[in-house]
Amino acid sequence: MSTFTSAPRLGFLASGRGSNLQAIIDACATGRIAARPVLVISNNRAAGALERAAAAGLATLHLSSATHPGPGALDAAIRDALAAHGVELVVLAGYMKKLGPLTVAAYAGRIVNIHPGLLPKYGGQGMYGMHVHEAVLAAGDRESGATVHLVDGEYDRGPILAQAHVPVLPGDTPETLAGRVLGVEHALYVATLARIADGRLSLPAGVAAAAG
Ligand code: GRF
Repeated sequence: MSTFTSAPRLGFLASGRGSNLQAIIDACATGRIAARPVLVISNNRAAGALERAAAAGLATLHLSSATHPGPGALDAAIRDALAAHGVELVVLAGYMKKLGPLTVAAYAGRIVNIHPGLLPKYGGQGMYGMHVHEAVLAAGDRESGATVHLVDGEYDRGPILAQAHVPVLPGDTPETLAGRVLGVEHALYVATLARIADGRLSLPAGVAAAAG
């Protein structure tokens, strides 16, 4: 088991609007999460997440296949940036790319993600964003939700740390369901990170770093 001694330094990877990032930054500011957000990396130069990070005084980096052609170079740059900022726990917050093996190995068991569905259902390559909600509706499920899990180098596959459930309602569209799920994501991610940061939730040691 691995726990953090005090106020771990958080590094984020995000591709989009950054509403989960914002909820976490705010919760760190109020002391709800005993951690220090220090760095946001995005593959998308125009990501709202980068604006939110800059507004909160965090370091920001745009690292992508454009800045680092070749998957190995990008992977190494991400790993090195996290290390250079003393990041202890990596938080994926709407990051649309797969982490490379160097980063996963360097932070094995210390990378968390939030997924807008009830894993292990509706996970894996191509299952992101509206695709998840469309699949839930197509299957006729009566509930959906969000999952916080450890990242092990495969899409959406690491050990599950926490889940929140929402009902699927008659007449739901992917958009209305997405909104309901997002409504529980922020609280779930904040609560889970609070438990990790203060040691109530120990991260399982030895989460394998899958190659590729
Ligand atoms: C969330 O729905 C999250 O579950 C998924 O990507 C989305 C990110 O939203 N991984 P935001 O950028 O945090 O608003």
